[in-house]
Amino acid sequence: MNILILPDAAAVAARAAGIVARTLQAKPDAVLGLATGGTMQPVYAELVRRHRSGDLSFARAASFNLDEYVGLSRDHPGSYHRAMETALFAQTDFRPHATHLPRGDAPDPMAEAVAYETRITAAGGIDLQLMGIGINGHIGFNEPGSALTSQSRVVPLAPETRAANRRYFDRDADVPTQAITMGIATILSARACLLLATGAAKAQAVATMAMGEIGPACPASALRLHGDGTVLLDPAAAALLDPAIVATMDAAHG
Ligand code: GLP
Repeated sequence: MNILILPDAAAVAARAAGIVARTLQAKPDAVLGLATGGTMQPVYAELVRRHRSGDLSFARAASFNLDEYVGLSRDHPGSYHRAMETALFAQTDFRPHATHLPRGDAPDPMAEAVAYETRITAAGGIDLQLMGIGINGHIGFNEPGSALTSQSRVVPLAPETRAANRRYFDRDADVPTQAITMGIATILSARACLLLATGAAKAQAVATMAMGEIGPACPASALRLHGDGTVLLDPAAAALLDPAIVATMDAAHG
């Protein structure tokens, strides 16, 4: 795991956008794994800016998002479909049928999760998977307790995750209780993984990810098993990391 501490959140977003751009330059038909959440918003803003300036095209790319809430249609204002359309898809040249999220309102969510995993495999797998981290160490919606071997499936959302995402919904009762998420094994099967964390609220989760035990208690710790995993942090998110560990991890992966 390569950990980079950058001067601020804007630098984290710019570096992440640069890594996406390099991936597409090397392989214009790359399959991108995308993520939602506030941390990703400046990354998508930068990708849109690069697209508008003529530097970046998604015309041959495909994408698969990590997750979606169970019960929400793609047009629901709180859905991840809607968030991705607004932040990225509608503002770039992604082909509509090349962007994928699990269907939250599928009649059989478990079957939808299995089909989603199959669609990822059929697309040739993911070249670069972007992700944030939950305050409890979740990636996608793989809450603590998720098996490192898990694949795409329906999961219940932890109370702290529902509370953290309450701001996207009108009322407490509107916050979904379940999601369809890629599993940890699905995420690890991406050829490269890129995790972003900014702000002091993520410092504990980041420290546990990098320095705690690798296992289900901190799903993000699984990234340490990946041969091409990069973590981009601002100083606040990196505040609880042991500097010696950061140096060791950087050295190990150049
Ligand atoms: C949600 C998403 C995660 C995301 C997390 C953190 O729970 N399912 O993929 O990483 O939120 O979001 P934020 O970046 O807003 O802190």
